[in-house]
Amino acid sequence: MTRILGVETSCDETSASVIEGTGDDATQRSLVILSQDVHRIFGGVVPEIASRQHLTAIVPVVTRALEDAGATLDDLDAIAVTYAPGLVGALLVGVSFAKALAFGRGIPCVAVHHMEGHLFATALEHRDAVPPFTALLVSGGHTMLVDVAAWGEYRLLGRTRDDAAGEAFDKVAKLLGLPYPGGPHVERLAATGDSSRFRFARPMLRRDQQPGDADYYDLSFSGLKTAVLNASRDASPEDHPHIARAFHDALVDTLVEKTARAVQEFGRTRVVLGGGVAGNRTLVAAMKARVKRLGAEVYAPTQRLATDNAAMIARAGLFHFERGERAGLDLNAFGSMPLPGLVTA
Ligand code: KG4
Ligand code: ZN
Repeated sequence: MTRILGVETSCDETSASVIEGTGDDATQRSLVILSQDVHRIFGGVVPEIASRQHLTAIVPVVTRALEDAGATLDDLDAIAVTYAPGLVGALLVGVSFAKALAFGRGIPCVAVHHMEGHLFATALEHRDAVPPFTALLVSGGHTMLVDVAAWGEYRLLGRTRDDAAGEAFDKVAKLLGLPYPGGPHVERLAATGDSSRFRFARPMLRRDQQPGDADYYDLSFSGLKTAVLNASRDASPEDHPHIARAFHDALVDTLVEKTARAVQEFGRTRVVLGGGVAGNRTLVAAMKARVKRLGAEVYAPTQRLATDNAAMIARAGLFHFERGERAGLDLNAFGSMPLPGLVTA
């Protein structure tokens, strides 16, 4: 059995977690997530402030995660840390901390790609959320449709060509006068809207698209955001719930249909959702209803594991640790980096 400390500082959450286990039999012993509230007043994450807050929080957050797990530094076999992608200054705090701690304790450090962490998150809560599966990762910074044949073997089917799904939620929230981060607020407002009042085109979704077409799996949300902008310009505030509903319906329909295409093409029986937008209950319910007809089950993480957290980093770290992968002291942080383990054709 391996016991791993995970560290995540890629954006505005300082998080640490202890997990233990072997292979897919892994248990979360603790998870501490400190969300930086300060960014709310700016309506978005301010990178320099994020770095400074990580620096202040990292030691107490890790200390607390160890305490909650009933563990000490002596009990750790390795430290897993997010090294990309994200805000480079924020990432550097976690990376520097993890390397220093690993060096000081004489234990290995394992580098984890943030989006691969999201692929592993649901497996901590559902035993069956393991490969092979179709994955839809929808967060504030990324939107990816991935076929996962095995851990470490990822086929990137589609991605957004402009805004990420969460980013679209946040921008629409701003247009409708809702707080940041906007996802949950837009979801709640949309639930009270009348779906027959407004209708927006489903972006990049047409019946005549074929597998192999560049836009068969790709996504795009900036046009939808513009549709909301135009609709809200001449609308009264009473129309806001209906506009939110039309936006929500178009976005969910698109994500669900593209995912269903992947399930069909690869004959998968499992769909795993990840990223902050996977906390959207309307999306999860629509996904379940749609892929049930294809004989597939949907596994979604709870809100806590859907958004950025260190448990998913520790879980992905366990996989890489067991494969013998070790990061050197020259490990650096990168703002962008392709998902590791990508397979083509
Ligand atoms: O994965 P995450 O915590 O951070 C990134 O790596 O980006 O995702 C945050 C994003 C935000 O854009 C937020 O608005 C969105 O997830 N989000 C939601 C919901 N909860 C969070 N979007 C739609 N519906 C939700 N319930
Ligand atoms: Zn994330």
